[in-house]
Amino acid sequence: ADGSVIGSGRVLLAAPRGYCAGVDRAVIAVEKALERYGSPVYVRKQIVHNVHVVKRLEEQGAVFVDEVDEVPPGAHIVFSAHGVSPAVVRAAAERGLQAIDATCPLVTKVHREAVRFARDDKQILLIGHHGHEEVEGTMGEAPERTILVGSPEEADTVEVSDPENLVWLSQTTLSVDETMETVRRLRARFPNLADPPSDDICYATQNRQVAVKKVAPDADVVLVVGSANSSNSVRLVEVALENGAERAYRIDDASELDPAWLAGAGSVGVSSGASVPERLVEELLATLAGHGFGSVEEVRTAEEDLVFSLPRELRRTASGAQ
Ligand code: F3S
Repeated sequence: ADGSVIGSGRVLLAAPRGYCAGVDRAVIAVEKALERYGSPVYVRKQIVHNVHVVKRLEEQGAVFVDEVDEVPPGAHIVFSAHGVSPAVVRAAAERGLQAIDATCPLVTKVHREAVRFARDDKQILLIGHHGHEEVEGTMGEAPERTILVGSPEEADTVEVSDPENLVWLSQTTLSVDETMETVRRLRARFPNLADPPSDDICYATQNRQVAVKKVAPDADVVLVVGSANSSNSVRLVEVALENGAERAYRIDDASELDPAWLAGAGSVGVSSGASVPERLVEELLATLAGHGFGSVEEVRTAEEDLVFSLPRELRRTASGAQ
């Protein structure tokens, strides 16, 4: 029946889900900057890839811009969690902007690896999505030494000039399994390809994928809360489908839930991307309860307690006269 209460539907709520330490820090950085300097505080690009977070910060006085040349000289600008290339940092300084760098420390870690490998004259194969802001920032550290590999298929055709001297790095929010497939295909062509010193795919991305893998085989439908441009959210939908979910959908919030997706389902898996406020998940659970999916069982595969300290620019004057 269309949308009528089905009855004893079950929700399998994946955990960990939602905010990671880098997103939490970036959002707080904008709020603190607004508190300290007043509106407007400018933010280059979406601070994190979530429409609701951006809207709420806009209401508080943040002004989102695409590039630093849209910001009046002297103003404060926050760099988003996805990071920026050195060229952007320079452009902001030349314009006399007061920069607050909310780049996630786990993205900065990949930037440092790129700098170091470029200094050692390595050629870097960066696995990541064409056009993603994080990839643009990381490539900017060593543009001449870095080649972007966008998919396993591209691994089969990418041209390198120095096959004996290669290392791979990756975007932080990729599918772990797909990345391993890309590496496997690269290594088949370039046996001397070196691995990065540590995982580039971050703990939060990995943990959310593991939890969705656990939920997916028992779920008729998996719903992932997250925005369309959120890489890690979109990956969760793919991971669900690859691991046994019959259907999986990404939605920005409960209003996008199509009751037809629930037809015939006994259990619904729910997760959310690393940039998604828990409030949006709670609203979805309330909506699902209204459709007969009222019993919620949390399926937890890891505990998370990582917290990052605020960007340096906001720490420095934290005890100051402001
Ligand atoms: Fe950082 Fe990973 Fe979150 S790179 S911003 S902890 S998704």
